[in-house]
Amino acid sequence: MRRRIVAGNWKMNMTPSEAVILCEKLKGLVNNPEVDVVYCVPAIDIMPVAEAVKGTLVKVGAENMYFEEKGAYTGEISAAMLKDAGVSYVILGHSERRMLFGETDEAINKKMKKAIEYGITPIMCCGETLKQREDGITLSHIKSQVKAGFDGIKAEDAENCVIAYEPIWAIGTGKTATSEQAEEVCRAIRECIAELYGAEVADKLRVQYGGSVNASNAAELFNMPDIDGGLVGGASLKEEFGSIVNA
Ligand code: PGA
Repeated sequence: MRRRIVAGNWKMNMTPSEAVILCEKLKGLVNNPEVDVVYCVPAIDIMPVAEAVKGTLVKVGAENMYFEEKGAYTGEISAAMLKDAGVSYVILGHSERRMLFGETDEAINKKMKKAIEYGITPIMCCGETLKQREDGITLSHIKSQVKAGFDGIKAEDAENCVIAYEPIWAIGTGKTATSEQAEEVCRAIRECIAELYGAEVADKLRVQYGGSVNASNAAELFNMPDIDGGLVGGASLKEEFGSIVNA
C-alpha cells in the first residue's frame, strides 16, 4: 500500500516572516500521521520554515535546485545546501520552470540524479498544454517527459521518487481535470514506470495530481486508484490546505 503524499507548492509567495505565520496557522490542521505532508517553499523560506515545523510531522521541500555540485553558478542553489538546511523533497521540472525559465528534460534529469545522490526525494512534474490535449498527444507527451526525467536512474532510486502529473491548463486556473482524466494519465505514468523498471517499482512509486486542487475536489481525486495525493499551489497558502491533507 502506497503512503499518501500531499505537498504544498508555495511558488513565489510568502516572505520569511509570513512563512512562519502560515506554518503556525496550519500547525494543528495538517498533523495527519497517515499522510506525508510537505511544504515546498521558496529557498529563502527554507530555514525559517524548517524551524517552524520542528516537532511536527511536516517535511520541508524546495521548489528547484541546480545540478552542479558547487562553484561559479551565480544565483543557483545546490543539493548540498538544501540538504544541510533540512530539505527532504525538491520539486523538479515544474511547468512554470520549463516554460518561463527554459528548463529542458535533460537538465531535469541531471537535477533528479543530483537530488538522489544527496538523499533528497525528487517530485518530478510533468503535464500537457491544452493544445497537446486537444491534439490527442497527452499520453505520449507525458511518457516522453517521464522517460527523459528518469533516464539512467536506477530502479532502487526510482521507486522512492514522486511524480506529479500537472496538466498545464489546470494550474492556477480553477479548472481541475476530472478525476477520470487525472486517473487516466496517472495510470499511464505508472505503466510507463512499469515498462522502464517492472511492476514492483511501478507499484511503489507515488504519483500525485496537481492543478487547482482544493478542499472540495481533493477527496474524489485522491480516491482514484493511481493517484496517491496532490501537489497543491494556491490552496496550500490557506487553512484550506488542512482539509486537503485530510481528504
Ligand atoms: P494550483 O498550482 O494548485 O494553484 O493550480 C499547482 C501547481 O502548480 O503545483
